[in-house]
Amino acid sequence: MQALALSFAYVLPLLCSASPNPGPRADVRTTSSTAGLISPEVSAYAQGLIDNSLALGLTLSVVRLNNNSVTTDFCSWGNRTEDGDPAQPDTLFAIASVSKAFLTSALGILMDDFAHGRNVTALPHGVSEFTFDTKLEALLPNVWKLEDDFASQKSNFRDLLSHVTGLTRNEFMYTRTDTPLSLGERFKYIHSGYELREQWSYSNLMYLFLPHVITTYSSKTFQEFVTERIFVPLDMTATTYNLTVADDSGLMSQSFIFTGRRIPIIFQDPTAANFIAGAGGVMSNAIDMAKWAATVLNHGYGNITFCAPGDNSTTYCAGALADWAAISANGSVDPHALYATTPRITTHAMMWHVCMTTTDSGDQDKGSAASFLLTLQSIYPQGFGRDTTPFLEDTSSLFEFPETDVQCLLDGQGNVKGCGWMDLEPGHERTGSVQERADVWWDKI
Ligand SMILES: *[C@@H]1O[C@H](CO)[C@@H](O)[C@H](O)[C@H]1NC(C)=O
Ligand SMILES: *[C@@H]1O[C@H](CO)[C@@H](O)[C@H](O)[C@H]1NC(C)=O
Ligand SMILES: *[C@@H]1O[C@H](CO)[C@@H](O)[C@H](O)[C@H]1NC(C)=O
Ligand SMILES: *[C@@H]1O[C@H](CO)[C@@H](O)[C@H](O)[C@H]1NC(C)=O
Ligand SMILES: *[C@@H]1O[C@H](CO)[C@@H](O)[C@H](O)[C@H]1NC(C)=O
Ligand SMILES: *[C@@H]1O[C@H](CO)[C@@H](O)[C@H](O)[C@H]1NC(C)=O
Ligand SMILES: *[C@@H]1O[C@H](CO)[C@@H](O)[C@H](O)[C@H]1NC(C)=O
Repeated sequence: MQALALSFAYVLPLLCSASPNPGPRADVRTTSSTAGLISPEVSAYAQGLIDNSLALGLTLSVVRLNNNSVTTDFCSWGNRTEDGDPAQPDTLFAIASVSKAFLTSALGILMDDFAHGRNVTALPHGVSEFTFDTKLEALLPNVWKLEDDFASQKSNFRDLLSHVTGLTRNEFMYTRTDTPLSLGERFKYIHSGYELREQWSYSNLMYLFLPHVITTYSSKTFQEFVTERIFVPLDMTATTYNLTVADDSGLMSQSFIFTGRRIPIIFQDPTAANFIAGAGGVMSNAIDMAKWAATVLNHGYGNITFCAPGDNSTTYCAGALADWAAISANGSVDPHALYATTPRITTHAMMWHVCMTTTDSGDQDKGSAASFLLTLQSIYPQGFGRDTTPFLEDTSSLFEFPETDVQCLLDGQGNVKGCGWMDLEPGHERTGSVQERADVWWDKI
């Protein structure tokens, strides 16, 4: 059952429980969407899962990022107990393998602690850094061993987290009384199915084991570390690895299998709960998971600040303009352009003003637009190596960043509303407004 729970978890959204009896529509109890992000179609689809006995109850959160603000919406359908208590947006579910993202993030945070000197333990003698490329053998020399010598020596954190160690699932090798360490110490007896990085092959084993690294190098339990470094900062107040805490909150859903029979939840045994924490131990609800989603959601291109020539009002602009001036032949920047610096694959960006136009008929809100040509390149204002004279590395051929057309849309008062980078990326051209056609659209904030 343990293996079953974990094995289903990564293909099915386990934010649900199951029932055999499609209830008549009269039984339907749905919390309503307040922010209007959950359409009637989505709601009907969710209700269909309950009507078709795929779940006894379920919850949904929708997170929308726009203009640097987050909008969320919640809905719930069906029940969370066999007594007919309704599922609510705050109902806690075991989120199964979605828990794995918290382990990966926790490792990243611990690596960051070491990178910035916030570590509370030392790395083994002779090991200088702890990153996703660090070898397991370097960090856990007395524990880490695989049957295959090459895989044993070469596997790094990235390999373990990416399911490419060559070890396949082997779900029957562990028991509920194992610990991350007691499991890891037996990896050397397991025949690998593939060579290192030969084949992606989903396995819980490494996610069961890796909390041992957090515990060893943070001097906290894995659960304490994730709680203090992720749940608390993100205000995920209901989220926990501790079933007693979840039960005491009165929000925990009961567990059901697809036949609709109620089953005990695996975390009832604290030893088992501790063992599966990294691979599938989180209990959370739609409200808290929306906070998590808003944090990890892809913010696209993020933000970038362009400065007008002569803008000395912030150290950022003074620095960006100085960098560009440093590579100019006459020591001053072209006044017909905007300048930026940015910690990306290239370090600097410049938009050179071409002309003013009126936007074409494709645009909903007609107005004027300013056209620019974008250049992305890396600048070394202090040179590099022995040669300390400023220079620029023209990376346009290397990274295929050609000079790109930029269209900035202006409002009635001539203020920029936003800018579209029009032909930065290859692919089919889109139709419609500047915003729709742009490969990258930047809102002015
Ligand atoms: C984005 O946010 C800013 C500041 O809150 C606001 O002035 C602007 O109107 C917003 N833009 C859009 C497109 O919602
Ligand atoms: C949920 O509980 C209500 C009230 O007890 C009941 O009528 C309904 O059939 C239950 N729904 C499901 C899907 O079991
Ligand atoms: C942090 O890690 C470095 C590298 O291993 C080590 O030299 C240092 O002593 C550690 N700091 C603490 C407080 O253990
Ligand atoms: C779980 O929470 C309960 C209640 O707060 C506490 O007594 C128990 O020690 C916790 N278990 C673990 C493993 O932290
Ligand atoms: C801009 O991006 C930086 C770096 O990612 C971030 O720290 C900052 O909060 C962002 N600013 C805004 C206004 O979103
Ligand atoms: C910008 O400000 C700095 C310090 O405030 C000053 O030293 C510098 O000369 C100024 N540069 C320009 C171009 O005004
Ligand atoms: C300096 O050179 C830039 C081109 O790099 C040019 O646009 C600008 O007009 C020149 N400034 C002066 C003062 O000659």
